[in-house]
Amino acid sequence: MKQLFIKTFGCQMNELDSEKIAGVLSGLGYSLTDSPDNADMVILNTCSVREKAEDKCYSDLGRLNELKKEKPELVIGVGGCVAQQAGKRIVERAPYVDMVFGTDNISDIPGLLEKKRARSKNRVATERRRKRLLLQDEDEYRLPVQRNHPFKAYINIVDGCDKFCTFCVVPFTRGRERSRQPEDIINEIRGLAISGYKEVTLLGQNVDSYGKDMRGQTDLAGLLEMIQEIEGIERIRFVTSHPADFNDKLIYAMRELSKVCNHVHLPIQSGSDLILERMKRNYTYQEYKGKIIRLREAIPDVTITTDIISGFPGESDEDYNKTIDALEEIQYDAAFTFRYSKRPFTVARSYDNQVPLNVKKERLNNVIELQNRITLAKNKECVGKEFDIMIEGESVKGNGNMTGRTRGNKIVHIPRQEGMSVGDILQVKITSATVASLSGEVIKDSEQ
Ligand code: SAH
Ligand code: SF4
Ligand code: F3S
Repeated sequence: MKQLFIKTFGCQMNELDSEKIAGVLSGLGYSLTDSPDNADMVILNTCSVREKAEDKCYSDLGRLNELKKEKPELVIGVGGCVAQQAGKRIVERAPYVDMVFGTDNISDIPGLLEKKRARSKNRVATERRRKRLLLQDEDEYRLPVQRNHPFKAYINIVDGCDKFCTFCVVPFTRGRERSRQPEDIINEIRGLAISGYKEVTLLGQNVDSYGKDMRGQTDLAGLLEMIQEIEGIERIRFVTSHPADFNDKLIYAMRELSKVCNHVHLPIQSGSDLILERMKRNYTYQEYKGKIIRLREAIPDVTITTDIISGFPGESDEDYNKTIDALEEIQYDAAFTFRYSKRPFTVARSYDNQVPLNVKKERLNNVIELQNRITLAKNKECVGKEFDIMIEGESVKGNGNMTGRTRGNKIVHIPRQEGMSVGDILQVKITSATVASLSGEVIKDSEQ
């Protein structure tokens, strides 16, 4: 077997794509290794959502060039969102790269390797394969997937994004929104359940849009109902929801369907209506808050997480303070916080009132500090309570503990016990909490 090293940047969509890349290449005799040094092929599966992530791709390529000088037969491939966006500019800038494939082109990898063998100069594939109204063309969905986990799996349900938020590159890297046929999704999940999978996470840049391009055949709530019926699946998650599309029907489905986990990731981005409008997010703070209130009324123990961008062009102190107020008011369980970064093709990149770097940094630090305080308080509220935990693996701290997650997606460390194994669902009482995680002790095996 030849050795393959894949480095994945970015979101869960890319993590799943890396599992597909590994699946396709395993058919060509490659097995995964965890270091680039002993690899025959290295693939960077790149992210372009912020400039830093894109820069990382090029700095990694520089290092790989050094490795290739020592080992000329090393094959270097670049996939993902930077590949989609930059295409042949990558080989112009880094001529030692052997192949570049876009977000729709994982199935082109064997052809690209063939071209490399034939010493063809054409080693870039970034054309879009799946187009709207061509839903039956599911080539990319039917690729073999070499999954990283034995019991939890990511499933694409809708690709691309039509929202065009003014800061975001994703619609340009992932293309227009395309929903996947429900039968195809259900068949894949049935197959996973038969192989012992217990948890599925449905993926989309905007999962709440699922089905909109299928003439009302089904929607996310309908899909959740169908997955609820699949025997063996115990937990269903979905990311990411969009506040303009997240609705009461979905809240109702979450409440009624026992397997759907009580966690919603609902990125607010800003608490200021002025900024939300300039971001083209299609909701006001009051509308957003109304949905949070209804969600908490329906599911009192729901975990809610969010994304925040600090220093969007034109963000004044007043706008920034509204974001701070929103965090105080909503009391999220956790937030992913980002400094605004100018991205190619986006509308906001040419706004002339860009916020100075030092102001963006200071605001971001304040947002992080505040949210850490809230997250810690929220986590401490869990102490003394009992949760069902699904064991995901050994603690990364290497202290002999095992790590799992609550249905609300909180990480919990528990002491390892005889007979405990990955995928087990256990009832755990929480004994302590930090910003990052909870610790607890097992009360009983929930499955018995
Ligand atoms: N589809 C999801 C996530 C998209 S990208 C959604 O609509 O929320 C994940 C997060 O990255 C976004 O929620 C946003 O907070 C952040 N992000 C996207 N573009 C950014 C940019 N140009 N600068 C800083 N953060 C950005
Ligand atoms: Fe980007 Fe907005 Fe689409 Fe999310 S909804 S992927 S932030 S354009
Ligand atoms: Fe990054 Fe592409 Fe995901 S830009 S966040 S890897 S969709």
